[in-house]
Amino acid sequence: MSNGSSQVASADRGAWKSKLGFILAASGSAIGLGNIVFFASNAYQYGGGAFYLPYFVALFVIGIPVMIMEFSLGTMTGQSFPMALNRLVGKKGEVMGWFTMASALFITMYYITILGWALSMMFGAMGGLLTDPAVAPFTPFETPSGGPSATAYFFGLIATWKPMLAVVTIWVLTVLILWRGTSTIEAAVRVFVPLMWVFMIVLIVRGLTLDGGTDGVLYLFTPNLDGVSDINVWQGAFAQMFFSLSLGLGTMTAYASYLPKDADQINNSLLVSFLNCGFEYIAGVAIFAMLFVFALNPAGSTLSLSFFVIPQGIAAFPVGVKLFGTLFFFLVVIAGLTSAVSLVEGFAASIIDKLQISRTTALTMVLVPGIVGSLAFALPQIIDPGLSGNGTLGLTLLDILDHWAFRYALIFSGFMQCILIGWVFGADRLRQAANKYSKFHLGPWFNWLIKLVIPIMLGYVLVGTLIEDLTQDGGLYGSLYDLNAFEWLPTVIPLVWFVGSIALAVYLTFGRPTEQAPVA
Ligand code: PFF
Repeated sequence: MSNGSSQVASADRGAWKSKLGFILAASGSAIGLGNIVFFASNAYQYGGGAFYLPYFVALFVIGIPVMIMEFSLGTMTGQSFPMALNRLVGKKGEVMGWFTMASALFITMYYITILGWALSMMFGAMGGLLTDPAVAPFTPFETPSGGPSATAYFFGLIATWKPMLAVVTIWVLTVLILWRGTSTIEAAVRVFVPLMWVFMIVLIVRGLTLDGGTDGVLYLFTPNLDGVSDINVWQGAFAQMFFSLSLGLGTMTAYASYLPKDADQINNSLLVSFLNCGFEYIAGVAIFAMLFVFALNPAGSTLSLSFFVIPQGIAAFPVGVKLFGTLFFFLVVIAGLTSAVSLVEGFAASIIDKLQISRTTALTMVLVPGIVGSLAFALPQIIDPGLSGNGTLGLTLLDILDHWAFRYALIFSGFMQCILIGWVFGADRLRQAANKYSKFHLGPWFNWLIKLVIPIMLGYVLVGTLIEDLTQDGGLYGSLYDLNAFEWLPTVIPLVWFVGSIALAVYLTFGRPTEQAPVA
């Protein structure tokens, strides 16, 4: 696995075979559901071209600098996230690191459930999902007029036990890809990442050659400054950027810890960010083209875009409906799989570094709770037949947990990293470490970005989001849903996430001794 002693941080942690392997793995982590689905629905929700300025500010002022920081944590210490923070700032860093990793585990669980649904939809698309008008509508749901209904199919599907099998399949694939660490991850991303680009290009060509396909693109590309004064647009752009670049969940630090110490992290951050955002824009173009041609409205939940709206567009293609439908869901599955792999690796690497256990033990320790959690999000019991909420128990759990874990964990972690690294460790030391092996040098302005500008922007978004959540009509998020016997869910889910993450963080930081890594 190793070639050259400088590549191996500690005896058996593993190392990327080449820089290309690392770039493919890190960009494979970044490119996922966030790019294919969330970007388009956010961009639409926030007014197309009005999303421009906040998006690019989020990329250059926050995204790239935080990625430089997360990558550098990995190469400076040769450790994954919590232990890297421990080495640089002590136990207070470690406890924050584990809190982040616990949230990452919760997010991984439902990320994999969504991939399970996408896999099931892919099989549906290979069959009659998009072509057969006889697909029975999910009874309580109103069928959109004309043609087969992807919406009805989706609700019909998640109200059965079938997707559970798909969820288990995705977990098994994830663990297989992680089996031998960097070597098996590298083998998988060498196939999947180029394939994603090819499939995306096929979809964009199809989108743009539809009659009227360019109108949607104009909507996306015409800058419009209306959104600049709306805090929601900025919140949306920051959250989108963090999630899309895989920041704030410890994965980028774990991946970077398998690089040689002299890796150029400034160059790597620029490359990975541009690959990710390039893919995102291409995906946006393909999706917007289709939405405008078929006058589809992507408003509503982000999931609805991938599971109802895009399939509805593909079903209206003049030719190749089955082919493009299958291709689309296959693309979602492989893009999501390389992201899920990085999420699980971030956690597995953290417990390997902390407890010095074998990779097999670590993977088992993640797989067991992970699979149980993912299956919980796939529970098919219908709790809201009117669908004023989400319909099934699993989707409701997912929606409520996503609201909390996704909106707070990533941004909070980014905020805390800036405080700990910027003020406790010293932003200048981080800058010197990044500059040491880089052709491009960061000026002293970088220190102020990490110490002040980014924490203020993230802090503002965090406080704004919290105020919005606490002052919302009708109580906590989800309380207005029609939950029947489950009306305790909106209170219990955020508690489980928050208390569970803190308990895990305190236990692992203070309750477990840190084993020393064997000397390489
Ligand atoms: N970047 C991935 C996406 O866009 O779908 C999701 C993700 C993966 C977020 C890994 C965070 C992470 F650590």
